[in-house]
Amino acid sequence: MNSLSTTRVAQTLQQLFAEAEQADRALMAQFQDVDTAGPQLADVIADHFAGEQRDVRGFYHGYVDNFLNVTQEYGQFLYQCARAIKATRIVEFGTSMGISTVYLAAALRDNGGGHLTGTELEPSKAARAHANLEVAGLADIVDIRVGDARQTLADLREEVDLVLLDGAFSLYLPVLKLLEPCLRTGAMILAENAFDLENPYLDYVRNPANGYLSQSIPISPGRGNEFTIVTR
Ligand SMILES: C[S@@+](CC[C@H](N)C(=O)[O-])C[C@H]1O[C@@H](n2cnc3c(N)ncnc32)[C@H](O)[C@@H]1O
Repeated sequence: MNSLSTTRVAQTLQQLFAEAEQADRALMAQFQDVDTAGPQLADVIADHFAGEQRDVRGFYHGYVDNFLNVTQEYGQFLYQCARAIKATRIVEFGTSMGISTVYLAAALRDNGGGHLTGTELEPSKAARAHANLEVAGLADIVDIRVGDARQTLADLREEVDLVLLDGAFSLYLPVLKLLEPCLRTGAMILAENAFDLENPYLDYVRNPANGYLSQSIPISPGRGNEFTIVTR
């Protein structure tokens, strides 16, 4: 069973990627001339990191109409990871309009059921994500908590199989630490935009003494995709 190839899910994703392309075109054009291997990118990321750290809420409010979504390739990878470990409990930091959520929720459905807890700062984005999941027929297994992940995920107690970190990347380490008591041995943590530049999150997960094994992966190159498993 692969829900991604059912008409309902496939058409929802096709529609969402088309909407995202339109909504984010101008934003993406700003990055087109940036050399993804050079110092220019480091400057862009450092600026972004500093902006986020100053004011996470204000920073992301500026992107309230943007999708900032994962690629199709990365979405399929998320689905494959969740299927491979037979995940039944998934946490997503940074839902936006729900594109990554559709891939992960489809994997839960195909694993026989489960639950995804997502979190999104912007109420209008969370509402749109919920509506998109309804269209895909996956809303019943997703709970999107509106607000700052540092608060909305603080009361999680259930065991977690897979985490997607795709919110404010200056918060990856505090959010991971919040979730640590819930992570089972072998759990996967997938981080988007975990760039290899003085990044306390990467320093932490790449130190085996902290109970992780971690490396960057070349899926959607240039997007700082880090793949981590819990070894504790
Ligand atoms: C890169 S987008 C997520 C894209 C989404 N995963 C997808 O593929 O469609 C990041 C989202 O995280 C949200 N966000 C940023 N900081 C957050 C926080 N502290 N708590 C909850 N959501 C946050 C932003 O509002 C934004 O919509």
